[in-house]
Amino acid sequence: MRVLSGVQSSGKVHLGNYLGALKQHLELQAENECFYFIANYHALTTVQDPEVMRQRTLDVALDYLAIGLDPNKAALYRQTDLPEVCELAWILSCVTGKGLLERAVSYKDKIDKGLTPSMGLFTYPVLQAADILIVSCDFVPVGKDQVQHIEMTQDMAGYFNNTFGGGEEILKRPEPRLNQAMIVPGIDGQKMSKSYGNAIELFDTPSATKKRIMSIVTDSTPVEDPKDPATCNVFAILSLMASPDELADWEARYRAGGTGYGDVKKRVHELFEEVFGEARERREMLARDLDYVEDVLVTGASKAHRVAEPLMDRVRQACGLATARLAPSYRLARNAVTPIRKPRTNG
Ligand code: TRP
Repeated sequence: MRVLSGVQSSGKVHLGNYLGALKQHLELQAENECFYFIANYHALTTVQDPEVMRQRTLDVALDYLAIGLDPNKAALYRQTDLPEVCELAWILSCVTGKGLLERAVSYKDKIDKGLTPSMGLFTYPVLQAADILIVSCDFVPVGKDQVQHIEMTQDMAGYFNNTFGGGEEILKRPEPRLNQAMIVPGIDGQKMSKSYGNAIELFDTPSATKKRIMSIVTDSTPVEDPKDPATCNVFAILSLMASPDELADWEARYRAGGTGYGDVKKRVHELFEEVFGEARERREMLARDLDYVEDVLVTGASKAHRVAEPLMDRVRQACGLATARLAPSYRLARNAVTPIRKPRTNG
């Protein structure tokens, strides 16, 4: 199966992002042909500081590579390295009614939050549809909030095919695949979210991470008293990371009394370091080898091009849109996929 998903970075990744999306993206790479891209054109609807844009774009690449995206399996690229998505977005916008976009919930949400109603924000779903349709993918792993955009993508594929397909499905109808909905509580027990200030970041410094975990909010039941795991934040976070056996053990200790919250927090911290400690080191190493990261992104874009170019040729032909033939060498250069070297481990 071919899979595509886009990531629009809104800052530092946290445990909720990992369990809600990243982890599932990584799991898909074993058995599928995955295209993951950094949605920097989309980010431009809200991020309008070039330094922040550059930093966040790089951060997404580093985050994904650090936690285990294998660039020889999945293609990781910047949206801007596949500029044909803008071309396809234009073509889609010519067969898509304004009414469809007016029904977009995320647009209304963003306006309600005080964002300026730019054309970019309004046509955001058209660009997203182009991202998806340009690689002819089978499904798109997304969170619940994005399902409407995928349904709009299905509609837009249909409008295009009806208008220009002559009975053929030129643009393939994708299906949404809902990421497993995990309720990841933050250190205060509310849903973990950057905007609530309750997140446990994946790549904070070791000491800041420890401090954060030790500050998970608990009640004041004395150490010797029995405790209720069902209402405890530390237990809730522990249950996302510990094995079922270990969890059953902690549950018994809660009910028996004599276990302090501090001990549980220490265990949460240990488990966190087991999973993310190495990733943190890897991220630091990658940040010192940005040529490697650039290689990954360029190669990823080449892989996407190999799929996107022939499709765009068909799309242009179907619409009767002629473009000058590009020199074959130029195409080849853009399509070349060379193996990616290993990142440097020192320096
Ligand atoms: N809109 C998505 C989000 O905010 C990001 C995105 C852009 C995307 N293009 C996409 C997701 C294509 C899936 C497929 O999370």
